[in-house]
Amino acid sequence: MEGFGVNTYKWVSNEGKAALIKYHWKPKLGVKNFDRLEATRIAGEDPDYHTRDLWEAIERSEFVEYELFVQMMDMAEEQNQSFDPLDPTKTWPEDSFPLMPVGKMVLDRNPENFFVQVEQAAFCPANLVPGIEFSDDKLLQGRTFSYVDTQRYRLGANFHELPTNRPLSPPANNQRDGAMQSQAFQGPVNFNPSSRGGPATALPEGTPYSPHIQGNLVREKIKKTDDFTQAGERYRSMSKTEIKHLVENLVADLSHVADVMIQKRAVENLAKADEGLGRGVSVGLGLEK
Ligand code: HEM
Repeated sequence: MEGFGVNTYKWVSNEGKAALIKYHWKPKLGVKNFDRLEATRIAGEDPDYHTRDLWEAIERSEFVEYELFVQMMDMAEEQNQSFDPLDPTKTWPEDSFPLMPVGKMVLDRNPENFFVQVEQAAFCPANLVPGIEFSDDKLLQGRTFSYVDTQRYRLGANFHELPTNRPLSPPANNQRDGAMQSQAFQGPVNFNPSSRGGPATALPEGTPYSPHIQGNLVREKIKKTDDFTQAGERYRSMSKTEIKHLVENLVADLSHVADVMIQKRAVENLAKADEGLGRGVSVGLGLEK
């Protein structure tokens, strides 16, 4: 299965020059899917199928590799697209913004204790290293504080110090107390500057991107509202089997909708992406012959 970062970040050079970035993980083994009927059967017979498959492959030393790609867009290009590049419901066309390989991840060890190493892990889109910044993507802005709030509640105030989350250099968040604090914080004050010493101030590395902005700050919907062209292109890029599965899946789910008005509205939306898709689902639902 592929991974797609959805939200847009920025990469910033040492000189403070920035580009917009989207992340993609591609499995070396490619992508494989169940069809709807197989998926229903496996969910009943072996609901942990994927976890077990991955575990057993790693135990056999058949390590699972993902290649990391980025798509990069000049800051100046953002306004020149027919879609809003910071809208998470849109993708960036790969012919204009090609996937560039930048690294890989190899899953070569299974966890020894699921609770310690997996359940207590706290991934958060706000954890950045120098050189990576947030974009103005509205959805990303919501995610940046929401995850860490949950993690403080779920794991406790000092969850950064748990072995599974601890950075290689010790956390320097100047958080001195709280449940399960394991670092002996030095000195009587946790703020800076202070005539009584205080912790060292961590200085940001590199030069942050600092654009010049003039205009009104507004709260409004994203203006470029073409929600169908990309969906249609994606549909038309699918193989015959994929199209057959998509139509069957949609028909299977929409057939449970009691209100025919709602079924018709769904079909109208699908037809806006691609007429053939709309018609296929409409025929499958018995709305037309
Ligand atoms: C593109 C949209 C989003 C994607 C791809 C996404 C993805 C994920 C993933 C993969 C996790 C599981 C993380 C883990 O297992 O550690 C997660 C958890 C979570 N997400 Fe999202 N999410 C999205 C949108 C949002 C939004 C809009 C919010 C709230 C404003 C949100 C709040 C949370 C919270 C609070 C958790 C639990 C964090 C934790 O306890 O570790 N997510 N999300």
